[in-house]
Amino acid sequence: VGPTSSACLEELLACGVAAVRQAAAFALDPGEELRVEAKAHRNDLVTQVDRGVEERIAGHLEATGVPIHGEEAHRVEDFETYLGRAWVLDPIDGTLNYVATHRDWAISLALVDDGAPTVAVLADPVAGRLYTAIRGRGAWVQPLLEGSAGTDDAAPRALERLEDLPLSEGMLIAHYQLTQDAGIGQAIEASRGMRCYGAAALEMAEVAAGGAVVYAQPRLQPWDVAAGALLCAETGAALTRMDGAPFDVRRAGSLLVGTPTAHAEVLGHLRAVGD
Ligand code: IPD
Ligand code: CA
Ligand code: CA
Ligand code: CA
Repeated sequence: VGPTSSACLEELLACGVAAVRQAAAFALDPGEELRVEAKAHRNDLVTQVDRGVEERIAGHLEATGVPIHGEEAHRVEDFETYLGRAWVLDPIDGTLNYVATHRDWAISLALVDDGAPTVAVLADPVAGRLYTAIRGRGAWVQPLLEGSAGTDDAAPRALERLEDLPLSEGMLIAHYQLTQDAGIGQAIEASRGMRCYGAAALEMAEVAAGGAVVYAQPRLQPWDVAAGALLCAETGAALTRMDGAPFDVRRAGSLLVGTPTAHAEVLGHLRAVGD
């Protein structure tokens, strides 16, 4: 594994993009009936496509020599304190949606270096969108499928820096578990409305792209958030735990991400009720 030079990160991004594109084509059309199994409980599902996507991407990334920390089959030991580079992969984020409606699911891949997301590749295959980012250099969106070379609409378009909108001027995305929480209730009241897509990676991309001003959710895993966190950081979002503590993508836990103003407002509502 080479040093963190910018050329090197571009190569790793290109490799991640090729891997995700190929896996997305498979997931969009696996060519056989879905086989669905439950893991820890009846709503914790996995299919042969989740496993097949992880296998395909892992095969593609093998040449990079960087270990993979993925939801279904690959683990980096002691990832919570891991230093160095690792690919963090959620082969299908939103498996329940994938099984039920085949919409609102994502493939999320990030290169994490000493705990910091450094390269992100996040596909929304049904929308045909591919989000990418490199730490310190920005975030982009482009068509998932490669268009004819040289056409403008196939080129990556930089995501704009977020306008620092307050809660009253945007949507709040929250998971249903949270709606029982009085603090979130107040924040929903203060916002334009609540949404929940059921795929953490897409919910973070929505904040990064300016479609929502805040996303809050408890109990997320590194693979749910690693790519989305970089997209959000590169567009100027504030990102912490739901109690305001610093966010570390290597550790499971809650997430509160949004425009700096909306993030502070939600934190205020959560704290006021928590006191
Ligand atoms: C899930 C989705 C969902 C979130 C769950 C995650 P999966 O990921 O991101 O939105 O509420 O906490 O586990 O299992 O479909 O990859
Ligand atoms: Ca899962
Ligand atoms: Ca997930
Ligand atoms: Ca998953």
